[in-house]
Amino acid sequence: MAQLAVSGGPRLRQDPFPSWPQWGDADKEALTATLDSGHWGGYPPPSPRAAQFEQEFAAYHDSAHAVTLASGTDALMVALRGAGIGPGDEVIVPALTFIASASAILLVGATPVFVDVDPTTYCIKTTGSGGIEAATTNRTRGILPVHLGSRMANMSWIDDFADRKDLLVVEDCAHMHGGAWDGKGIGSSSTCAAFSFQASKLLTAGEGGAISTNDAELAEKARYFINSGRLGPMDPIRRQALGWSMRLTEFQAALLHSQFVRMVEEQAPVRERNKARLHSRLGDLAGVEVLRIDARETRRSGYAYIFKYLEDQHEGVSLSLFTKALRAEGIPCSGSMYQPVYKNPLFPLSEAGVPLFQDHLEGTVDYREVLCPESERAAYHENVWIPHEVFLGSLKDTDDIADAIEKVINNLDELRGGSAK
Ligand SMILES: Cc1ncc(COP(=O)(O)O)c(C=O)c1O
Repeated sequence: MAQLAVSGGPRLRQDPFPSWPQWGDADKEALTATLDSGHWGGYPPPSPRAAQFEQEFAAYHDSAHAVTLASGTDALMVALRGAGIGPGDEVIVPALTFIASASAILLVGATPVFVDVDPTTYCIKTTGSGGIEAATTNRTRGILPVHLGSRMANMSWIDDFADRKDLLVVEDCAHMHGGAWDGKGIGSSSTCAAFSFQASKLLTAGEGGAISTNDAELAEKARYFINSGRLGPMDPIRRQALGWSMRLTEFQAALLHSQFVRMVEEQAPVRERNKARLHSRLGDLAGVEVLRIDARETRRSGYAYIFKYLEDQHEGVSLSLFTKALRAEGIPCSGSMYQPVYKNPLFPLSEAGVPLFQDHLEGTVDYREVLCPESERAAYHENVWIPHEVFLGSLKDTDDIADAIEKVINNLDELRGGSAK
């Protein structure tokens, strides 16, 4: 008789897990008060609600300034531009990430240089072949580390290396709201950081983003980049720089404030407690592997819990078959969250091996030659992503996830050559 739900057996988990986003009276009141205020837009920036949220968000991350704006991609672009990165500059970025980490570099006219990930954390690799050190040239101007899932890039090494080589560091914190590395809020040790408040993120207003920095000049530049290039909030003397229009609305700012309070006070402690439980359960399970938690991750956070399905130990059962079986047991998960960015159809599309509309890169780089084996192994054969909201329930919910993973691992034989393919 079949054991696995995917092959007709009983489903381990019947009840749904917590969904996302979550809201309550505080959010409704914040939105209604904004409506009644008649001040809906973000002009002149920062508007009152945006200013309040920026202050609390920056303080929580130990940064002097935060600037809110329309999206995480915009935050990366503004951060890069504000730091002075542009055409001719190379920026080192991990291959295993969302496309925006690399496309933001292209959008400011600079060149993304892909490096591999550390197989123990899936975050950017620092030393050895395929790491940051080996990829650094005299054209390198910056490093864009990504804190992926629930793990943090090794900021101690990156900041130290960047200091020695005089490089800028723009952290992609789209997955890491509220995190801290080595006692300091994430993003506060480097040039600046970019956050996303897109609908699936740990902190959301439907859409939105922010940069955080300790550099007052950079924050000032970010303010005019997002405000149509006005050099002062209302530009009384009509001085103008080149800028985009990326202001956040006051509705988004109001929601970000109430959601931020909920995230810090209610959600993060539950989420991290439950993730720690799953981590310890999976640590004892043969056939899967957990990612390494660095002791310097002093305030943990994370957009998703990622573990490794060891496909090469399970002949005939691919990663996609494993995640399909796990979903059939009632566990939300994905085995194909990101592909290495250089495999994305944007890279390479032209004959010259550069992305479309990026002819100015011709002769400087050829993305057809890029190979990051650890990123490919993670993306195609190993990584299993469980979304953050699933961890907002009870310890029993989390035990169901661990039990389901164990159940599938113990019954992989049912998947070999069977109809579940
Ligand atoms: C790692 C990473 N960087 C950047 C972004 C871009 O954020 P947004 O969608 O708000 O532009 C996202 C998510 O969407 C992301 O996951």
